[in-house]
Parts: sequence; C-alpha cells; structure tokens
Amino acid sequence: MQTRYDFTDQVVLITGAASGFGELAAQRFAQAGAKLALGDINADAVQAVADKIKATGGEALAMACDVSNNDQVEAFVATCVKTYGRLDIGINNAGISHPKKRLHQLDEANWDQTNGVNQKGVFLCMKYELTQMVEQGAGVILNVASAAGLMGSPFLSLYSSGKHGVIGLTKSAALEYGKMNIRVNAICPAFAKTPLVENSLKASGGKSRENLMAGNPMKRLGEVEEIVQAMLWACCKDNSFMNGAVVPLDGGLAAS
Ligand SMILES: NC(=O)c1ccc[n+]([C@@H]2O[C@H](COP(=O)([O-])OP(=O)(O)OC[C@H]3O[C@@H](n4cnc5c(N)ncnc54)[C@H](O)[C@@H]3O)[C@@H](O)[C@H]2O)c1
Repeated sequence: MQTRYDFTDQVVLITGAASGFGELAAQRFAQAGAKLALGDINADAVQAVADKIKATGGEALAMACDVSNNDQVEAFVATCVKTYGRLDIGINNAGISHPKKRLHQLDEANWDQTNGVNQKGVFLCMKYELTQMVEQGAGVILNVASAAGLMGSPFLSLYSSGKHGVIGLTKSAALEYGKMNIRVNAICPAFAKTPLVENSLKASGGKSRENLMAGNPMKRLGEVEEIVQAMLWACCKDNSFMNGAVVPLDGGLAAS
C-alpha cells in the first residue's frame, strides 16, 4: 500500500510492536519516512520487525520492553532519545486480554496482569514520553484503547475497566499538555484481525466469528490496515488541532 503521509525524520516510538497493529504501524510509519523505536516484551519478535524495516532501507531500533515495568519503560524512552536525539510521536499500543469469565470468577492475579499492562503500562509510557516532549516543547501521543473502553464488555470486565482508564489518562493529559504543543489522543478499535483476536476466537471455538460479525453494524471484522491508517492520520502534522479525542474504529459498534 502506498502511504499518503509524510513522517520524514520524525521519531516514532511504538510499544507492542512485534505483532498486530504495532507491527503493521511500524512498517507503515517507516515507509512514510519515520525513524522508529520499537519495543515489545517479545525481544526476538520485535528485533525481527526492526530487521525487516532496516533491510528495506528504513531506520529502526528494537528493544525488549515490558510496559508494566517502570525501569524498562524509562530505559526504552531514554534509548530512543539517545539514539535519535528526540521523540516526536509515542504510540502506546501494547495490550493483553484475559480469560473470558464472569467478574466474580476472575482473581487478583488477572487484575494485576491485565491492568498492569493495559493501564499502568500506558501511564508509565506517557510519563516518560511526556517528560521528553515537555523538554522539546512539542509531541504527539496516541494511546490504543478499545471499544471496550467506551462500553461494558461482558466476560471481559478487567480488560474493559483498563481501557476506560486509558481514556481517562488520555483526556486528562490532553487538558494538561495542550498548551505545551503536545497532542494526546486515543483510538478505540474493535475486533480487527490481529493475533489477539484470532487467538481468542480460536479459544472460543464454535460460531464465535460469525456471532461477532453479525453483532457489528458493518457485519464484518476490521482489517489491521484500517486501524493503522487511522493511526497515521491521528499522528500526522496536518491533523494539528485534534487533542483529547477518543476515536472509535469499530464499524459503528460503540454507536449502539
Ligand atoms: N485487535 C483488536 O481488535 C483490538 C481491539 C481493541 C483494542 N485492541 C488493542 O490494540 C492493542 C494491540 O493489540 P493487537 O490486537 O495488535 O494484539 P497482538 O497480540 O497482536 O499484539 C500485542 C503486542 O503487545 C505485546 N505485549 C504484550 N504484553 C506486553 C508488555 N507487557 N509489554 C510490551 N509489549 C507487550 C505482545 O508481545 C504483542 O507483540 C492492544 O492494546 C489491544 O488491547 C485490539
């Protein structure tokens, strides 16, 4: 796909860059000229994504980074700034789900794991990204929330609560940092064909895929490319007055 965006020499940091949205976003931002800092808990897989980008003439560094670990996030952002001299765009994308169960059947470990990555992880990334962006006097942050952050999600209550939290972090930071020339927004995808969704559908078995498609106003799942194109638009320089926005990318699901 040809990109219509120009991110020449902009430094873009992406978490969860080894798979799904993060992996394709890394490729598309690289094709648009960005210099990339790619982090993931899966060190080998994120290195492979960076190697592929470098093999086609792009610039990418890869680093093992568990977003739920303060020191690893601080080191990841510091390495990005040491390598490229700045950080223009932070895409806080790493996220996990949890077993589909009723709330009373979930336990403390489910809470700690899910919200450690999905909510605390976004806070930690924002903390260190914003520290650098305040110093620079400019920046863009895009948090990957979910349609589950806009509505209740039966059997995924902890995932839903964490994604609601990401939206709270996004809106609050937009109000705090807008005057510093830093834009903070969130996207809310639903059921796009990434490994996260495909694995969960496999685990559910039966007619889960058909049910999901039937329940969506557009009667289909989302393509990963559709989400990544919205990421490029959200972060591009021309989109300069969008701040504190929470953008559903869900075929209309959250409109119901
Ligand atoms: N796929 C969808 O339909 C969908 C819908 C709504 C929201 N989302 C959100 O989009 C984001 C990306 O999801 P995806 O569907 O591409 O999933 P994915 O499983 O394909 O990719 C997620 C990546 O995050 C990495 N990761 C997991 N835990 C991590 C941690 N602690 N630190 C750093 N990296 C970690 C994984 O190794 C993986 O590479 C997530 O935040 C997810 O909640 C996805």
